Amino acid sequence: MKHQDPLVRRSYRHKKPRKIQSWQWTLFLLAIITIIGLAFSAINYYNGIKMQKEIATATNTLLTQAKQTQDKADLTMEAQVHKNKAFTSISFLPAEQTVLPFKNLEKTYQTFYHQKSDHDSKLPPLFIGSVQKKKLTDELARYTVIVTTYEWDKKEHAFQKIDSKTTQSAFVNTTNQHKMNAKELIQTKANLLGIQQIVKNELLKKAKNPDQIIDAVIALPDLSWKTKMTYHQKYLEIKVPLEGDKTTTVKLSYNQIKPFIQTQLVDPKVLKKDTPKEPEDKKYLALTFDDGPNPQTTPDILNILAKEKVKATFFLLGKNVEQAPNLVKQAKEQGHELASHSYSHPFLPNLTNQQVSDEVQKTDKAIYNAIGELPQFLRPPYGAVDENTAQRIGKPIIQWNVDSLDWQSKNKNAILSVIKQTVAPNSIVLLHDIQPATVEALPEVIAYLKKENYTLVTISELLGHQAKPMHQYFGKDDERKI
Ligand code: NI
Repeated sequence: MKHQDPLVRRSYRHKKPRKIQSWQWTLFLLAIITIIGLAFSAINYYNGIKMQKEIATATNTLLTQAKQTQDKADLTMEAQVHKNKAFTSISFLPAEQTVLPFKNLEKTYQTFYHQKSDHDSKLPPLFIGSVQKKKLTDELARYTVIVTTYEWDKKEHAFQKIDSKTTQSAFVNTTNQHKMNAKELIQTKANLLGIQQIVKNELLKKAKNPDQIIDAVIALPDLSWKTKMTYHQKYLEIKVPLEGDKTTTVKLSYNQIKPFIQTQLVDPKVLKKDTPKEPEDKKYLALTFDDGPNPQTTPDILNILAKEKVKATFFLLGKNVEQAPNLVKQAKEQGHELASHSYSHPFLPNLTNQQVSDEVQKTDKAIYNAIGELPQFLRPPYGAVDENTAQRIGKPIIQWNVDSLDWQSKNKNAILSVIKQTVAPNSIVLLHDIQPATVEALPEVIAYLKKENYTLVTISELLGHQAKPMHQYFGKDDERKI
């Protein structure tokens, strides 16, 4: 047996540590990298999960808030949550019984979501589609489809609202749930005729050369419920039929057509407040003069009215206007109101529709040629009118409740005496500016009325600019449907 050399043994025991091999280093580094990598992955994974949880919680919070907002809108809506790679959406859709003025709400939402999610944000956006209902008056509500977009803010760990867009809105008559349209707003043929007059004035006002379109405007085909009229928040849009197949678009503010619409079906913000009513104790009265102008007598009447600083209304015959347009112009310049009394003074109910239209249109043209404006009122000869005639006329019908009988008596004192006996506040007084006796009586008539504290006004003023076609007015307090 060979003994080991003790030296050798010692040398073995005290041998220097061996050098670490390069493969060991590699293994070691790989291990470190793997550990770091795993650590990062773990952190990322953890953060990812944490973010997903945060997003989920925040989504729920938004959903709850949106539900509360939607409940306040006084509509029964159900939320549907959808999630895909491109976006998350919370869509409020009507419960079965809920009536909305929108067709296919879900499609409206979806179209919007897809358009908006097209951009390359890192995280998919969150959309909330909802419907708001705002009560504007006791009878009018506005429904709005709103899509709000949120994006996740990693730093803030919260959703940031990017924008809120109205994609559709509609107005609804809440008494019958009908979507607002011209019929809901205007309701009667009389109102439609009233609006027609305003359309005519508007066309003339907007025209560069009104003289070129005056014939077409005077002969404008009647507006009907088939006419294309669109209800907007601030105005009514009308595709006005012209002769042939042509149309032109007119926009009328609700203030312009206020007497002819259901004002409770208009956003109060766009309506001017009513001017406070004149004190009731004031006595108003309208003097009206028929059958002129007459170059022999009308100038005297105008002079007396000018001297007394009194305004009156003249119901003119178209054929006489053509003979003396300057007198009509002078009357206008003095601040009087000019209205129609037909062209040739016929008994209108005996005429055909075409003949009635001719009487009205020829007089409209004659007065327009004299003063550049269309007459707003008509007094039928002999006060004779029926429903069909009134519709053809298309203007408020002005009658009278104080008849001076000047055409009969042809006597100054008789005229004065009749007026003294029959006059009352808010009367419409019938006189004729073609009668010499009326010229004679007028200064004393005016003196008497002033002494009795009457304020003499035009027909527009007396009726408060509210008069309607298909209605006749015998005085301010005596309005009758025809
Ligand atoms: Ni007459």
